[in-house]
Amino acid sequence: MNHEVNEKGQLMIGQVPASELAEQYGTPLYVYDVEKIRNKARAFVRTFEENGVKAQVAYASKAFSSVAILQVAHQEGLSLDVVSEGELHTALEAGFPVEKIHMHGNNKSIRELEMAVKNNIGCIVVDNFYEIDLLQAILREQNKTIDVLLRVTPGIEAHTHDYILTGQEDSKFGFDLTSGQAEDAFMKVQDDENIRMAGLHCHIGSQIFETSGFEMATRKLFTTLKEWRERYGYEASVLNLGGGFGIQYTQEDAPLELDQYARALIKEVKDLSSQYDYPMPEIWVEPGRAIVGEAGTTIYTVGSIKEVPEVRTYVSVDGGMTDNIRPALYQAKYEAALTEKMDEPAEKEYSIAGKCCESGDMLIWDVALPKIEHGDKLAVFSTGAYGYAMANNYNRFQKAAVVFVENGKHQLVVRRESYQEMTRLDLSYEK
Ligand code: LLP
Repeated sequence: MNHEVNEKGQLMIGQVPASELAEQYGTPLYVYDVEKIRNKARAFVRTFEENGVKAQVAYASKAFSSVAILQVAHQEGLSLDVVSEGELHTALEAGFPVEKIHMHGNNKSIRELEMAVKNNIGCIVVDNFYEIDLLQAILREQNKTIDVLLRVTPGIEAHTHDYILTGQEDSKFGFDLTSGQAEDAFMKVQDDENIRMAGLHCHIGSQIFETSGFEMATRKLFTTLKEWRERYGYEASVLNLGGGFGIQYTQEDAPLELDQYARALIKEVKDLSSQYDYPMPEIWVEPGRAIVGEAGTTIYTVGSIKEVPEVRTYVSVDGGMTDNIRPALYQAKYEAALTEKMDEPAEKEYSIAGKCCESGDMLIWDVALPKIEHGDKLAVFSTGAYGYAMANNYNRFQKAAVVFVENGKHQLVVRRESYQEMTRLDLSYEK
């Protein structure tokens, strides 16, 4: 992976030495290069624009939600995917335009649906029959109308290079296409005067490196729409193909450029629309990881170094599974560097350990690095998605701070949690 390095051999992020940021804000520290975020967002938006295709690129805020990132997403013309009251609340606090917010979730609560309807959000991606009942009642009560997409399971599951075709999709999300479930749901919402049935949604997986899974899913959804037109005269205006566009965590990862994913989707939808003589629907996508993943770097300070003779050297840092649970949860792989030793050759392999009381709290196994000393600053790359978003207080570690860097300027956008904040919710027990 390419990293900016200055003439002193220092890692630079957005034209600022990473160790300077660590010095000023403390570690562990999430640092985002905002220009990278903007470039990713623009790659999607521009490709749809250049091809004259109506589209919404909805940032999946589950990847990283905070007021500042949602402000950047809005500045770049993105829409927003939220999956909870908390994510919706953050969007409202960030001043995100409500009409560009889409709500997801396989078990939306009455409160969540009421909040979404009350705030006139742009679209609800309806997931199940229970939700349809709740939504219909809330819309009648609030005397409101709302756009919905039906989430369907197209029987395609994609992960990196592999995609699996399953006849009957075994998933907690969405309506099954093959059993007629999706069609029953369609009939239910289509007849409701408070609901505008905008189209279909699917999400086939995460960290996908090819376009074929997306193309297959598009064909499945489009065929369904064609059948529904024949049977009911219905024409959809939106096809939402979800997120899952892959990013580079390590040298081994070879994702496509974002405009390549977008172009493949555009081609498939255009081809199908002309093949079936179907009005070209808007294409919506929901990238999370692809927008923020590579833009984020976590900086740690090296503490203890333990040699297990002839086996390995454990280097412990001041964070770990509390700020990045992905290695422990998914055996996710990352690359790292020493922020002040970017021009030094690797000395040997080290294993980077977190500081939680848990043997599984290892960030990286066997990574070749220059000689590591106590106090060195270690950067772990591509931590921008599902890092802060999945941070936790295990062992009562504080949630780390987040800094945005752009054009040589840096700004704190999420404060480090204090211990007072951590115990604020605790009440003493009176016997
Ligand atoms: N849309 C829907 C309906 C989704 O379920 C997801 C992710 C996305 C969009 C965004 O996917 P992305 O473009 O970020 O891959 N915690 C896991 C990832 C879980 C993703 C769940 N849904 C991780 O750390 O890899």
